[in-house]
Amino acid sequence: VVDIRKLYAQTGKFTFDPGFTSTASCESALTFIDGDEGILLHRGYNIEQLSEQSSFMEVSYLLLNGELPSKAELDDFSYTISRHTMLHEQLATFYKGFRRDAHPMAIMCGVVGALSAFYHDSTDIADPEHRKISSHRLIAKMPTIAAMAYKYSIGQPFLYPDNDLSYTGNFLRMTFGVPAENYEVNPVIERAMDRIFILHADHEQNASTSTVRLAGSSGANPFACIAAGIACLWGPAHGGANEAALNMLREIGTPDRIPHYIERAKDKNDPFRLMGFGHRVYKNYDPRATVMRKTVREIMAELKVNDPVFEVALQLEEMALNDPYFIEKKLFPNVDFYSGIILSAIGFPTEMFTVLFALSRTVGWVAQWNEMISDPAQKIGRPRQLYTGPTARDYVPLTAR
Ligand code: ACO
Repeated sequence: VVDIRKLYAQTGKFTFDPGFTSTASCESALTFIDGDEGILLHRGYNIEQLSEQSSFMEVSYLLLNGELPSKAELDDFSYTISRHTMLHEQLATFYKGFRRDAHPMAIMCGVVGALSAFYHDSTDIADPEHRKISSHRLIAKMPTIAAMAYKYSIGQPFLYPDNDLSYTGNFLRMTFGVPAENYEVNPVIERAMDRIFILHADHEQNASTSTVRLAGSSGANPFACIAAGIACLWGPAHGGANEAALNMLREIGTPDRIPHYIERAKDKNDPFRLMGFGHRVYKNYDPRATVMRKTVREIMAELKVNDPVFEVALQLEEMALNDPYFIEKKLFPNVDFYSGIILSAIGFPTEMFTVLFALSRTVGWVAQWNEMISDPAQKIGRPRQLYTGPTARDYVPLTAR
């Protein structure tokens, strides 16, 4: 391992690594990924066990505090989060400034960025108590903000949080419930959603998390930093991939059309890529995709839906995994390949998919941001560049050009 800081101090040379494919930007104790083996651990616990046996609140506590909570600690944490689920009433007015057909991710960027204007009593990042409160506020308010974005888009009134429900149950009710009607949370859907939240909670220095850290390294307030992360997550190569993957599967439509799309994905003159396939770090099956595939079956059985798109996905996966191009490039399904099928079966429109990703990833962003702020070695993030423009030259007056 080269100590880049020493190398730079001694020689004035720095590394050129577009896309940061081999550059660690920080030290972190949160998440470990072995991309060759397809292993993902949070604080040492593997994602399969966490997604099967724990809850999103438990994983949130683990990421924030380093250890699994005791029963009393978990109850206390869940209670604290539930006390912060309400939004400032004036934020409801803020939504009304958006067009109804605005993409909900555009609304998320705006509303989360605006939180610092409403909760400036927790933006002193040098104060650990402020950091804690703003972290809790962000985790607690994201489901409310996301559900309101959805309600706004379909023209239904906002629902206040019901803090007797679980984190996930409350989100489902605020999204799919309507005033004056009792909304019964389906425990199978609640469990599946909670699992999806766990699977997206953190993933070390991905583009949006690096964005949050970079924004935070300048001392920006946490609400602004998370809004920056949301903006980055929106891109189709990152969080937008689950929306793109489902759209692609629907466009393929029937298994007989799969070979045509596989050929397109391999054609270097065609910009088309198999969405939900490939990953910067995983050169093996993404362990989150395995859990997702299993969850699709559970949800379909529970809701008694038989979406033909699932069959297309299964056959596409099989064909791609047996194709020399995908084998050679080590392209496997990632977390986004199956998640859209589940979310669609539950009733979310595709525009909401990335919003749900942002909701779950907020806990990772917040934990990473806290870790960075507490690290005494942390400096402002300031990459260098390789300059490729003209060398020094004299200004030419306008009359002489
Ligand atoms: N379909 C076809 N070919 C692909 C795909 C794909 N989905 N992904 C990568 N490749 C090819 C590239 O064309 C490239 O080929 P080359 O060596 O001939 O140039 C090679 O595989 C390596 O790909 P890169 O783009 O260099 O790999 P990188 O690590 O930069 O990109 C990424 C990773 C962005 C995820 C890419 O695989 C991709 O675009 N996948 C589709 C989008 C997607 O599913 N994103 C979700 C990622 S997971 C997440 O954000 C939660």
